[in-house]
Amino acid sequence: MTAIKYELIKECSKTGARAGKIHTPHGSFDTPMFMPVGTQASVKSVSPEELKDMGAGVILSNTYHLFLRPGEDLVKEAGGLHKFMNWDQAILTDSGGFQVFSLGDLRKITEDGVTFRSHIDGSKKFLSPEVATKIQMDLGADIIMAFDECVPYPADHDYTKQSTQRTTRWAKRCKDTLTRTDQGLFGIVQGGMYKDLRTMSVNDLKEMDFPGYAIGGLSVGEPKDLMYEILEHTVCQLPKDKPRYLMGVGTPDCLVEGVQRGIDMFDCVFPTRVARNGTAMTWMGRLVIKNAEYTRDFRPIDEHCGCYACRNYSRAYIRHLVRVNEIFGLRLMTIHNLYFLLDFMRKMRESIMEDHFVEFQNKFLANYSH
Ligand code: GUN
Ligand code: ZN
Repeated sequence: MTAIKYELIKECSKTGARAGKIHTPHGSFDTPMFMPVGTQASVKSVSPEELKDMGAGVILSNTYHLFLRPGEDLVKEAGGLHKFMNWDQAILTDSGGFQVFSLGDLRKITEDGVTFRSHIDGSKKFLSPEVATKIQMDLGADIIMAFDECVPYPADHDYTKQSTQRTTRWAKRCKDTLTRTDQGLFGIVQGGMYKDLRTMSVNDLKEMDFPGYAIGGLSVGEPKDLMYEILEHTVCQLPKDKPRYLMGVGTPDCLVEGVQRGIDMFDCVFPTRVARNGTAMTWMGRLVIKNAEYTRDFRPIDEHCGCYACRNYSRAYIRHLVRVNEIFGLRLMTIHNLYFLLDFMRKMRESIMEDHFVEFQNKFLANYSH
């Protein structure tokens, strides 16, 4: 029995782009898809009903944060993450590896796992492939991630090789720990910026036959051209009949480049984080709502957007709310950005279905300013 099934529906005739559907025990979602991030079991400021209205069929949450607070025992006691947060569609949890490794000097890595200090109270904690997998089994997400090390940038070839091989050994331990049959464990390809190590990582993980593969260790500070080059090199070696997930990527330009190379799933805090900073995402590029030019601008953020914020409120009003720090302003910005990005993915998918993806890409690039 496999919890996660990928259905390939249409391939672009000119690029690696593909449209598909991922089936999970909590419903199916179309791909390519962007997953809104709900780090602490909530997509900041928006309700599950609002997320559903925007067309989100899957969200991401984090093992690291839920492990520290409220603890996986409590979530399990509540009946699992879906029930706890009242979200009945698909959930993916990241393994905690990435968050722990972002702690810098506060952590120590061994073959066994990672010892670190909690960013909340400084207490000593331990995560390993076994612990991270057991926590994810208690949380009960549909898709769970292997415990990995996101190789920092820059890193030399020797360190990257040792780290990537350890991530592969850890992936095997995660697989051996998982006993629930209603969860799919994805392997995470590492290998830094080295093509030989990316190939090694893909080959080693493919042998373990995961129901999906993520590409980690990208968008970690490297130049965009290098990221696209490594991405291209990696994606085309992954199996065609499994989902491919590019971790931590979510600006419109990177989404298009990822889809062009055959990525199916993305996640990023970018749309929700910049929303709370007062940056709206549009087809033309970023719109900084606090700018003085919007003081008397009574048009919506985007005239063509169908979101709740754009259907009902003006730039002038939202600018005012954001400037005086009203919670509702942050909510409207978040709702707009998520709607925009989900709509962006929907339109991209439609273009693949009609085999017009290259035209979509050209039109997008012609209008979008970085
Ligand atoms: N999120 C963004 N990049 C990564 C990565 O390399 N590993 C994990 N686990 N999560 C990520
Ligand atoms: Zn809108």
